[in-house]
Parts: sequence; structure tokens; C-alpha cells
Amino acid sequence: MQTRSRFPEGFTALIQGASRGIGLGFVEALLAHQKTGRVIATCRNPSDSEGLSRLRAEHPERLICLPLDVEDEAAVAGLRDAASAEVDRLHLVINAAGVLHDGEGLFPEKKLDDLKLANLEKSFRVNAFGPLLVSRALAPLLTHREHAVLANISARVGSIGDNHLGGWYAYRGAKAAQNMFTRGVAVELGRRAKKLVCVALHPGTTDTGLSEPFQQRVPEHKLFPVSRTVEQLLAVIDTLGPEHSGRFFGWDGAEIPW
Ligand SMILES: NC(=O)c1ccc[n+]([C@@H]2O[C@H](COP(=O)([O-])OP(=O)(O)OC[C@H]3O[C@@H](n4cnc5c(N)ncnc54)[C@H](OP(=O)(O)O)[C@@H]3O)[C@@H](O)[C@H]2O)c1
Repeated sequence: MQTRSRFPEGFTALIQGASRGIGLGFVEALLAHQKTGRVIATCRNPSDSEGLSRLRAEHPERLICLPLDVEDEAAVAGLRDAASAEVDRLHLVINAAGVLHDGEGLFPEKKLDDLKLANLEKSFRVNAFGPLLVSRALAPLLTHREHAVLANISARVGSIGDNHLGGWYAYRGAKAAQNMFTRGVAVELGRRAKKLVCVALHPGTTDTGLSEPFQQRVPEHKLFPVSRTVEQLLAVIDTLGPEHSGRFFGWDGAEIPW
């Protein structure tokens, strides 16, 4: 377990997309750490998440669960007041929600003929616009004088420079857009808050529902359990200072080309 060294004692965190997978893993790991104060977890239906219900029973004073669908613009705007009612500032915000397939027609395209506008829109709404709107809503809580990190969970396949295989248009495009938004937010908020670090992070292939249909092609040692991914990303987050803001890092701390 890392020390979360740059954050102050009792630091506050908000994990967006916390019902399962990597987001839930962040909530669990943060609550297990003594230095963490209150943790706000958001997802569409918190009461449907067994993981959040269990953690809420274990940490009733420290864990606050709020409903949030990032496709609902008014709801995302309302997150500012809902979070402000619980904490006066945030030190760590992780935008973890993402979608690659949804069981309703969205699935990574192999070729141009597989494209559907509705799927492109869905992917961009959740993967790209969601984290951007959440950044807008939470900016006042993140722009203070203490160390703070806004980490958007991206994906290596969103790297334009690293795209040698093609396909996966909706997901790759949305993650590339998310990366551009992360950079823009880093520039804008960095003018107001000199200690704020905004980054895109690639978690590595992680054993969740999102990667499940594609795991057979992944060597066992490259498929991380959620707990390992989360510890690796928290270790990267621990190393971040303002000089890293506006950049894209992998789970091993190595920078990824845009
Ligand atoms: N797993 C991997 O191998 C991998 C690799 C690279 C990048 N990533 C990225 O890592 C992040 C986490 O992925 P994961 O593997 O943990 O996925 P996951 O297990 O499928 O979880 C996805 C999360 O996104 C939330 N979500 C989906 N649509 C939402 C919406 N409209 N509003 C609010 N929340 C919504 C889900 O909440 P609900 O319960 O409300 O559905 C869930 O909490 C994503 O950004 C993904 O792109 C994952």
C-alpha cells in the first residue's frame, strides 16, 4: 500500500464510475488507507452495486454514494452542489466510467462498414464528454492551494501515435477526444491552481466486464486483477506533480504518445 504522500492528512476523493471494475477498486483501496478522509463514489444506481453497498456498511462515515449518469447533462451539473454538501474541497478526482460494448449493439468495429452513428454518439458521450462535463462541475472544488489530481482513465488505444491496427473507431476516437479534453482542462485549470495535476492514465488490460470479450488474446501475465491495476495507478498518481499535468501515462509510469 502506497503512502499517498503528497496529499494532506484526511484528503478527499471522488471516484466517478464506481459501481464495479476499476472505479470500485479505487474506492476500496482508498478507504483501506488511513490517510484518506471522505470518499465520494458516483455511478448510475449506487444501490444496485453490491461492492458499494458492502463498502458503505464498512465505512458509513467515510463513504458517500451519489447517483450520477454522465449522459445526463443536468445531473452532472448538479454534482457540484451535491459534492459541495459533503466536502469543501477535493484532492483526488478519478473519472473511471467508460464503455466499450453495452450488450445493446455497441461493440468495437473491425471495419468502416461496422460503423453506426448511435454507437459513435454513445461512446463519445460516456468516454469523452462525461469526464469533461464532470471536470467542469468539479473545477471549483479542485482549484485550491493544496496538491490535487484529476485523473481521467483513458486507454492506450486512444493514442493516435500508437494506432497501428485501425478499427475500434468509436472507442479509439472517444478516448483520443478524452485525451484532448484532459490536456485542455490541464491548461485552463493550471492557470488558477498551480498545484493541480490533470492527467490521462492507461490502466493496462484489467480483468473487468469491459475487457471480458477480448481477454482470450491477452497473455495471463498481461491481464491484471483490479486490485493490481488500482495499486499501480495509485503508485503513478503518487509520483505526479504539476510538471506532469496535461500528459498521458501508463500503469507503469511510462509516458504514452498522444
Ligand atoms: N478493463 C480494461 O482492460 C481497460 C483497459 C483500458 C482502459 N480501461 C478504461 O478504464 C475505465 C474503467 O473500465 P472498467 O474496465 O472498470 O469497466 P467496467 O467494469 O465495465 O465499469 C464501467 C463503469 O463505467 C460506468 N458507466 C458506464 N456508463 C455510464 C454512464 N452513462 N454514467 C455513469 N457511469 C457509467 C459503469 O457504471 P454502471 O454500473 O452505471 O453501468 C461502471 O462503473 C474505463 O474508462 C475504460 O475505458 C479499461
